[in-house]
Amino acid sequence: MNVLLTGGAGFIGSHAAAMLAEAGHYVVIVDNLSNSDASVLRRLERVCGHPLPFVEGDIRDSALMRSTMKQHGVQSVMHFAGLKAVGESNEKPLDYYSNNVQGTISLLQAMDQCDVRQLVFSSSATVYGQPQYLPLDEAHPTSATNPYGRTKLHIEEMLRDVAASSAQWRFVCLRYFNPVGAHSSGLLGEAPRGTPNNLMPYVAQVAVGTRAHLNVWGDDYDTPDGTGVRDYIHVMDLVEGHLAALNFLQDNAGWSAINLGTGTGYSVLDMVKAFEQASQRAVPYSIKPRRQGDVASCYANPQLALNKLGWRATRSLQDMCDSAWAWQSNVGK
Ligand code: NAD
Ligand code: WQD
Repeated sequence: MNVLLTGGAGFIGSHAAAMLAEAGHYVVIVDNLSNSDASVLRRLERVCGHPLPFVEGDIRDSALMRSTMKQHGVQSVMHFAGLKAVGESNEKPLDYYSNNVQGTISLLQAMDQCDVRQLVFSSSATVYGQPQYLPLDEAHPTSATNPYGRTKLHIEEMLRDVAASSAQWRFVCLRYFNPVGAHSSGLLGEAPRGTPNNLMPYVAQVAVGTRAHLNVWGDDYDTPDGTGVRDYIHVMDLVEGHLAALNFLQDNAGWSAINLGTGTGYSVLDMVKAFEQASQRAVPYSIKPRRQGDVASCYANPQLALNKLGWRATRSLQDMCDSAWAWQSNVGK
């Protein structure tokens, strides 16, 4: 199929591009490079063995989206483009609504005008808000505790309304838990700008010596070792879930929301230990007060993905850390 990847130069989108190309699909990337750079494209060419069509632009530019879809005979869209920093969303809510919600509206309008009606959406477990029970299944109530999460919820509901307006539309909202790790080539990975908010890239930078130590945000949670528990999922498992969702859309109209997680939770200290094993480097840390907005535990019930998509995660925490270390060790080479 001819697949348009919005935000395809980013962490998850670039891994999806490599996986789809390897699976024989024609991939075209649209990205405004607001949180990535063009070097990813050269590394994608090395991974894929051929260049991938790339359009530098913003999803809010409907005319550009239309011309790109027509030029490349786009049949389906994987929508990765978005701002994703929870803390920043509290400071700049309008930027998040414009970029994420308005951007998705512009994209959908362009799709409608080009008769492109299949979309896989990058949603987030953050739409579950404060867990009322665990593991989290798709029936869990949704809510938002920050503007970022609210944009994801708004987009999910908007897609549900559009799907209800015509049987031609086909949407899957994939609710990611905590994507980590990197492509086996060591050429693709997570490259956050500035100080990483997320655990794994921060731990990787401590291991490689870029940062002196890790701050562990709280060790007084009701978890086995007191530190936060999350459902870390290898980015390659995650993007394979996208391929399964794309195949699902060929035979299923309507709207679905599906968790992409492993179903297993690991603590911060579990992650530190696994990363020290992967890197054979010490990861010094100090315990600090809890980070505002953090929950104690968050992990998925992944059963619906298996039932509907025939997909489940297969890679271990050690695989995640091994691949992240290989990437971190390569960065800049
Ligand atoms: P990322 O920032 O690495 O990638 C997003 C890409 O989209 C970037 O390359 C950026 O330049 C591009 N982009 C942003 N706004 C754009 C716009 N208006 N027009 C065109 N391109 C634009 O982030 P990621 O980690 O790869 O996440 C991809 C998607 O998955 C995001 O929508 C994010 O909200 C979602 N998600 C990520 C996580 C995570 O932990 N990484 C978890 C849940 C959901
Ligand atoms: C994981 C654990 C921290 C950093 C976030 C977003 C979510 C989604 C995924 C986009 C927690 C602890 C972290 C550090 C630490 N992104 N930690 N020291 O918060 O589960 O989810 O990323 O959709 O929306 O909220 O991921 O990696 O930030 O934190 O102790 O320097 O690691 O307290 O327990 P989180 P995270």
